[in-house]
Amino acid sequence: MKRIVLFASGSGSNVENIIHHFKDNPQVHIACVLSNKKDAKVFDRCSRLHVSAFYFNRHSFYESEAVLDVLKAMKPDLIVLAGFLWKVPENLIKAFPDQIVNIHPALLPKYGGKGMYGMNIHKAVKENAETETGITIHYVNEHYDEGTIIKQATVALAPQDTPDTIAEKIHALEYKHFPKVIENLLFEH
Ligand code: GAR
Repeated sequence: MKRIVLFASGSGSNVENIIHHFKDNPQVHIACVLSNKKDAKVFDRCSRLHVSAFYFNRHSFYESEAVLDVLKAMKPDLIVLAGFLWKVPENLIKAFPDQIVNIHPALLPKYGGKGMYGMNIHKAVKENAETETGITIHYVNEHYDEGTIIKQATVALAPQDTPDTIAEKIHALEYKHFPKVIENLLFEH
């Protein structure tokens, strides 16, 4: 049995999509979902889907071993950042080498780094009149948005696209590719 722990900061539509993908797979268990936002919509999704979800604060993440201890107890095969907006501290990265993956809603190294997340990215993509954008699934290392790339997928943009329609296109790409990439990672070792 492979165990996944998910991290999310907001809506959690990727979390929901991943839970659905694995719900009939007896070899994969979603151990829990962790969120740094108390009122994140992801908690409603998890209670509806009967998946355990826990909130943690800045102190327990950055200034103590509390989150690390929870993770160690969960014994995850893979830690998946699915719309998680905080930088992962080094103690976690060291404890789970090559076991933490992130999805970024742009074609890294473009539109990466501090402040580049969610709608900020789609607004910048629109302002720069890009003709395509996409997603990057990558390992998480100590440098923000710079870990080894596992998969990228692209989507064409039209002049009439807005940040909102770009976000929709990106979400569609994420829903299509992220669960499959996770599944491959779990079973390739
Ligand atoms: C997703 O598009 C994800 O790629 C992005 O946040 C969104 C969360 O949507 N992540 C980042 O920007 C990380 N830097 P969701 O909560 O509906 O899954």
